[in-house]
Amino acid sequence: PATMRFTAGGRAALGGVDLMEVVRRFGTPAYVMDEADVRLRCRAYRSALPRAEIAYAAKAFWCRAMAAWVRSEGLSLDVCSAGELAVARSAGFPADRIILHGNAKTPADLRAAVDERVGRVVIDDIAEINRLAALVPAGTRQKVLVRVIPDIEAGAHAAIRTGGEDHKFGLSIGGGAAGEAVSRILAQPRLELVGLHCHLGSQIADAAPYEEAARVLVEQLARIRDAHGVVLPQLDLGGGHAIAYTSGQTGLAPARLAAVAASVEERSAGIGLPVPRLTFEPGRAVSGPAGVTLYRVIAVKKGLRRTYVAVDGGMSDNPRPALYGAPHEVRMIGRASLAGEREYMVVGHHCESGDTLAEAVRLPADVRPGDVLGVAATGAYNHTMASTYNMTGRPPVVAVSRGAARLVVRREGVDDLLRRDVGL
Ligand code: LLP
Repeated sequence: PATMRFTAGGRAALGGVDLMEVVRRFGTPAYVMDEADVRLRCRAYRSALPRAEIAYAAKAFWCRAMAAWVRSEGLSLDVCSAGELAVARSAGFPADRIILHGNAKTPADLRAAVDERVGRVVIDDIAEINRLAALVPAGTRQKVLVRVIPDIEAGAHAAIRTGGEDHKFGLSIGGGAAGEAVSRILAQPRLELVGLHCHLGSQIADAAPYEEAARVLVEQLARIRDAHGVVLPQLDLGGGHAIAYTSGQTGLAPARLAAVAASVEERSAGIGLPVPRLTFEPGRAVSGPAGVTLYRVIAVKKGLRRTYVAVDGGMSDNPRPALYGAPHEVRMIGRASLAGEREYMVVGHHCESGDTLAEAVRLPADVRPGDVLGVAATGAYNHTMASTYNMTGRPPVVAVSRGAARLVVRREGVDDLLRRDVGL
């Protein structure tokens, strides 16, 4: 899972940069992103799925540098808010390659999508149809997809399963809402229905749920053709492809999604439909493995049951272990140790017991305050989900590429935090 390369003397490098140099220049905690790794993952998707559209899900990791990388690799983009859209546009991401999607889009989200002329908006609620249409200038049409519920439960944790009937996402096929949305959009002159969308959940390691979702959606395309005489050209199967967080896990490689694409071709041909253009929306699988978070050890404390290694970050910069019980690999970097290894619980400096980064990891037996730890595969849903809990500023993002490190998002300081507090 780690893209960190370890060399003699306990040195670790990412993107050809010694991570201790990153620590010296930018301090800790710090997110480090390997640009080449992100680019390779974009290319792996494009070459495994040459006929599909790959729309990176910005929510996994987002800043203007990332927008530039994804854009130059030829990917499209999935944004879920006016804020994510603003980052994209300020980095020059072409609007026609952007899909805006969220389950409860605010008036500001919809307004921004129309003003920026995003390529597609995904409809997730019947009431959204008229709200969106009212914003579209006369004489123009906004392309839309309808998010349907495939009624498939998949995903690594209950909080990140989204494809079933008992979640807030999408429109029910069996319950009739999806069909009603389709009819209303087809009757709405300022909207152009171009396809169906679904998203099953996240950290899904198996291709089977995607094949099942594709089957359900192709069937719906045939129903829509039979009911309305229109053939919708696109199917968006969402994201959710798993990555390996630890060496015991396996991710869902883009190559395995090629079978899903093949099954769509076969099924459409079987019912006389032209093959729809597929879209995949990977977020985590593009950015997750490319990131490492660097921390400084503050304390090593022996408890009755275990020994805690406390670092200068925690749930404010990586809430995933607390929220989803997510596992991580942790390595000591910067010095070699001959002391052997023992098991530790790596915890943060926040005021609650749920503030763990890794339950039970092996680290050198002589790990001590001042040492630097690297947590691997933190490139997704860490920076974007960071909070300022306990008035802790969010860490910087340092991009590494071809032996050089550069700051792409600066550290948030107490001054930044104080500036928002307008006082009495
Ligand atoms: N498309 C849609 C419509 C989504 O809602 C999501 C993620 C994605 C694509 C990208 O999913 P990915 O490929 O990254 O799994 N905070 C959670 C993950 C929440 C995912 C939300 N939606 C976590 O840290 O595991």
